[in-house]
Amino acid sequence: MPLSADIDTPLLEARHLVKRYAHAPRGKEITVVNDVSFTLARQRTLGIIGESGCGKSTIAKMLMQIEKPSAGELYMHAKPYASLDKTEFRHGIQMIFQDCYGSLNPRRKAIDIVSEPLLVSTTLSAQECRQRAQEVLTQVGLTSVYWYRFPHMFSGGQRQRIGIARAIITRPQIVICDEPVSALDISVQAQIINLLMTLQQKYQLSYLLISHDLAVVNHISDDILVMYFGKIAEYGCATKIFAQPRHPYTQALLNSTARIAAADKPKPPALRGEIPSPFDPPRGCAFHTRCPRAQQLCREQVPALRNLDDTQVACHFAE
Ligand SMILES: Nc1ncnc2c1ncn2[C@@H]1O[C@H](COP(=O)(O)OP(=O)(O)OP(=O)(O)O)[C@@H](O)[C@H]1O
Ligand code: SF4
Ligand SMILES: [Mg+2]
Repeated sequence: MPLSADIDTPLLEARHLVKRYAHAPRGKEITVVNDVSFTLARQRTLGIIGESGCGKSTIAKMLMQIEKPSAGELYMHAKPYASLDKTEFRHGIQMIFQDCYGSLNPRRKAIDIVSEPLLVSTTLSAQECRQRAQEVLTQVGLTSVYWYRFPHMFSGGQRQRIGIARAIITRPQIVICDEPVSALDISVQAQIINLLMTLQQKYQLSYLLISHDLAVVNHISDDILVMYFGKIAEYGCATKIFAQPRHPYTQALLNSTARIAAADKPKPPALRGEIPSPFDPPRGCAFHTRCPRAQQLCREQVPALRNLDDTQVACHFAE
């Protein structure tokens, strides 16, 4: 059941999210998510992209209440997270993990893994929960021969199908997918992405899709949020950003993908250099150490996130 009937209210909203971790050995605090705001609308997909360590999973953990934000606010249907009860939260948002094997109990059969979230969050009987699990397992492409098998008896793609069935059985409106296909073979990746798209239509799901693979994000996202070093580099409509990326980091990411896609074509410049250390953040724009367009201003001043033609961009020279 929707928490609110208001169609215009974003399902999910993050306002100025910050996450800092204290690193005892070096006595230093690092900021891994820094002032990140976004909204997720009904039946839309927001893709979050960026290199390893830029804070993507940390955002997912805060959205799932696995980690507490150091600052900022989270809302579901305009209601602050703190005001949601456990059941309301569980029925609003669920997550699919990259390492589905690690997240499935090896001693439980597929049907029990999938029915568990219903058992613990509803008053349905065990029999009713199993029945729903059978329906959902069938919907994700696992017929009755698979229901009583243990996780180790499945392929990677099949295990991810179990993870998806477990996530959707409570009929959440939002599903966070953290690198849902990056552990799978290319051919299986396409099947899982297609399954996610079919389920989105069937259940009017909203996805927050985290991936370092632009091709995956491009295929399925309505909006994208490009992150660099804990901050938003660029955020807006996916079609617009893919057609005309304004941030040099987005341009470099797209160029890297183009290099792979067209191996026989002239190579655009790829992303060069190393990601800075969070223990020693650069002054000014965090991307200046790798940016082909960096100038003195970039080394001195942090670029504000500005609205340009309905896309948010954090670059002094985005025009
Ligand atoms: N519990 C923790 N304690 C301290 N630092 C952490 C903790 N969890 C994550 N970090 C640090 O926070 C930063 C962001 O990590 P995060 O897992 O969010 O990145 P990511 O974008 O998901 O990367 P990947 O693409 O590799 O999954 C990294 O520098 C990581 O080392
Ligand atoms: S602000 Fe400067 S360093 Fe940062 S992305 Fe823009 S041009 Fe590059
Ligand atoms: Mg991650």
